[in-house]
Parts: sequence; structure tokens; C-alpha cells
Amino acid sequence: MTPKGRSVFRCTNCGAEHARWSGRCDVCGEWNTLVEEVVAKSAAGSGKGGAARRIGGHKSLAEGGSIAEPRKLREVSGSAEQRWKTGLDEFDFALGGGIVPGSMILIGGEPGIGKSTLLLQVAAKLEAAGRGTLYISGEESALQVRMRAERLTDAATEVNFLGETLLETILATAAAIGPSVVVVDSIQTVFTADLEGAPGSVGQVRECAARLMRFAKETGITVFVVGHVTREGGIAGPKTLEHIVDTVLYFEGEGMLDHRILRAIKNRFGSVDEIGVFRMTDRGLDPVANPSELFLGDRDNHASGSAVTALLEGSRPVLIEIQGLAAKSGFGMPQRVATGFDNRRLALLLAVLDKRAGLSFSQLDVFLNVVGGVRLQEPAGDLAVAAALASSVYDRPVGAGSIFLGEVGLGGEVRPVSQSERRLAEAAKMGMTKAFMAHRAIPSRVPKGIRPVGVKTIAELFAQLFQ
Ligand code: TYD
Ligand code: MG
Repeated sequence: MTPKGRSVFRCTNCGAEHARWSGRCDVCGEWNTLVEEVVAKSAAGSGKGGAARRIGGHKSLAEGGSIAEPRKLREVSGSAEQRWKTGLDEFDFALGGGIVPGSMILIGGEPGIGKSTLLLQVAAKLEAAGRGTLYISGEESALQVRMRAERLTDAATEVNFLGETLLETILATAAAIGPSVVVVDSIQTVFTADLEGAPGSVGQVRECAARLMRFAKETGITVFVVGHVTREGGIAGPKTLEHIVDTVLYFEGEGMLDHRILRAIKNRFGSVDEIGVFRMTDRGLDPVANPSELFLGDRDNHASGSAVTALLEGSRPVLIEIQGLAAKSGFGMPQRVATGFDNRRLALLLAVLDKRAGLSFSQLDVFLNVVGGVRLQEPAGDLAVAAALASSVYDRPVGAGSIFLGEVGLGGEVRPVSQSERRLAEAAKMGMTKAFMAHRAIPSRVPKGIRPVGVKTIAELFAQLFQ
């Protein structure tokens, strides 16, 4: 055994261990499933003095182990409530209230979406608040990062920078400097000398992440790692790390638009599905405190074919505008084009509108657009989709102060949505005055400024809106 520790290759499919790499696991027969792993140095003798007693009857199972001492949970010290606020509110919000010391957080996202920019801003904020930071990049040179830092609104040039990719050097440096937060940009460029594989391979990425995690736990230093979402098979993406880290945030955007959503999909210290919204400007990322304004589009034009709904993004209600356009089609099959909405759900709603409300779309091209590049996945948006399409057919606006909350059933019935009180509160905050929804969903305490109108069916809704 070398002093570094031995490495083996493990099949990610069946778990079999192999001494050498091969393209195919000869135990289960799967291809490309072998991943290099470091075998921990034997634990025998590592226990302290008397604690390392042998376990009697189960000797063979416990071979090499030593007896550790459990303690009552109530004796555990430290507080989960201690969090560092970065002051970048949307970021703190997505994390569930700030950074938990000693945690490891993965920031995943497509290349170019703004992960490095975000973390540089976070580091700048922490540095300004007197918390030491260490920003390690294996992707960009110090000069490149400095140039980015100079563009940002936040004073980012105070951040400590290290251009390094060897894990051992990173850990030793971080341990010597002792910052509050270490940023590793990106995990795919880091490698340990203990493994043969190239940086970015599944084995390297997982081993480095596991050691960074141990480092965070042992030192109380918070570690952020960037993970690029990749399409090529050879490079390990953030998915392969999700089970290792404490918190997983994905940074997403929609092609042409400049807003970015930071979404928690795993959080050992808070709720998931929280989002933080930012806008990419020429001076870095700008937190968007009121996302509804962003997603409402240009609501000054009260044209037909537009309806607003309130969706829940995690625990946060966000108002979204939906635009429908029904136009006479030329020859052949009429078109159905949905952006940000499921095409089959659109077909279903069109059939319901036809059958239950007598609105025929058979001669019409139908276009549906969810404003702001958002994907409308909650059925709660059905009623707004129906209202936008009907409004376009009748060529009558639905009224600028109205929102629509409800799932539409196959019988044309309007079904209640969850957490209607929160949605109404957000709508009222944004100046909406009327909410069409199922009777049953009207909360006992209606937020001030908005009036709920109960409707049973879409036919009843259209009668109220357009007659
Ligand atoms: P970057 O943080 O490098 O993305 P990632 O680390 O996820 O690959 O951001 C890259 C993009 O952001 C790049 O196309 C330029 C743009 N950008 C701005 O628009 N404004 C800015 O102030 C900065 C720093 C970057
Ligand atoms: Mg980057």
C-alpha cells in the first residue's frame, strides 16, 4: 500500500470492486460504469486507547473497527440557527435564511449563466462584512477574475484569490488561512493526486467533493462548489454530487432573458423549492425583490388575450401573465404553439373549452405564451390559460385588475388551488382587485384590497367576463 492510500475501481451499477479499470464490469456486464475510488487507510488502531476494544461476538463483521462514543442529542452543542447573512437578500432567501457555517453548498448551472459572478458577489459581501473569504478558480486567471471584480457594483477586489486545481494544495491553503468561506470554481477542474483519473471524471469529482465536505465539517468553514451542467458523457455533472453535499442550488435562466432564478432543490438546513430572483446587468447580478413585477410583462396594455395568475414558487407566490392568441388559420391543420406550457395540457384545455363552453378552435391557430420565460407547471394556472384564450376569441379584455386561480377539470368545472390566501395576498400587493376562483378555495380571511369571485365552471366565468 502506498502512503497515499490504494485505489480501486467500483461499478456504479452493481457495486463490484475491481483492481483495474475496464470498459465493462465483468460482474454485471454493464458498460462504462467503473469509477475510481480511494480506499481509506485501514482504520485499525486509529481509535484512541481504551475505546478501541474489540467487539466480542461479531468480530468478523467489525474487523478493523473501534468503539466510538455516542452521546445524547441534547448534549450536542452548536446552534443550527446561527447563519451568516450575505446581505444579498435573494441569495440568503434561496438558502433558507443565510449561510450555515461549516456547510457545503453546490451551485449548479449551465456554463455562462452567472455562477462565478454570483459567488464573487457573495464573497465580496462577506468580505465587506468582515468575514474572510478565499475564492479558488481553476477556470479563469487571476486577471480575468480581477477584471470581473472591477465591473461589479459590490467591492469585490478585496476578495482573496487563488488560482489552483490540486485539491491537496487547496485544502492546505484554506486550512492555513482559515477564512469563513471557501469558493471552489469549479469542482470539475479540481483533482486529487491520489486518483489517476483526469479532472472532471466521475471518480475525481466525487472524491474531491467528499473531501471538501469533510473539510467543511471539521473546520466549520463553509465551502461553495460550482458544478457546470454538462452534456458530454465524460465529464461528471452536478447530479453526481447532489447526495454528497448539504445544499444544492441551481442557477437557471431562460435563453434571451436577463433574469436568473436561483432554486434550492436540496437543503439540509431549510426548505427546498425556495427561489431567489436576479437580473443580470452590466454591473453583475441585481437582486429582484419583487419577482411579480418582472413576470407581469407590460401590463399597461389592456389588450384582449391576456390573463394573470399567481403561482407558487416554493413558498413564494409570484404573479405571472399568460397571453393567448387565437387567429384564423390558413389551409391545413391549425397550429397549436405553446411557450412555457405543456402542449398536451393546451390540447386538453382547448377540448374542454369547446365541449363545455362552446368555444370552437377547430378553424383557429392557437398560440400560448407564459410571459417572462417561466414554465407554467402548476394546474392552478389552468383558469388563467382558459381566460386568456377565451378573451382572444371574444376579442374582449378580461379587466386589468383581475387574476385567475383554479385548475380546470374535464367537465369544465373550476377546482380549488392550494394556499389561496398567500396567492391572494401577493395579488393584492401587486394592485389586483378581483380574483376569480373556485368557491371552496376562498379563504376565511381575505387579504385587504382584493375581492374573490367564486365561479363553478368555465362557462359561468365566461358569462361573467364577456356578457
Ligand atoms: P459567469 O459568471 O462567468 O458564468 P458561469 O460562471 O456560470 O459560467 O457569467 C458569464 C456571463 O455573464 C457572461 O456571458 C457575461 C455576463 N456578465 C454580465 O452580463 N454582466 C456582468 O457584470 C458580468 C460579470 C458578467
Ligand atoms: Mg464560471
